[in-house]
Amino acid sequence: MRIRFRENGPYVVEFPPGTKVRLGGEEIPLPKGNLALCRCGGSHKKPFCDGTHKTLGFQAEAGEIQIEVP
Ligand code: FES
Repeated sequence: MRIRFRENGPYVVEFPPGTKVRLGGEEIPLPKGNLALCRCGGSHKKPFCDGTHKTLGFQAEAGEIQIEVP
């Protein structure tokens, strides 16, 4: 699994194919196999990114974390 920090944007969590993700008991469809989570604090659909970071002028460096699950 990998978590990327998009430059001036959200955290993007990438999942292996077939991973099931639930929020409040509801399964979240992952058509792209990843999930974009708000990092700027301005999203109207938290915890998800809705693109508001672009209008806020949010600035942050890019990066990533690799996670190996045994
Ligand atoms: S990072 Fe995209 S709306 Fe916050």
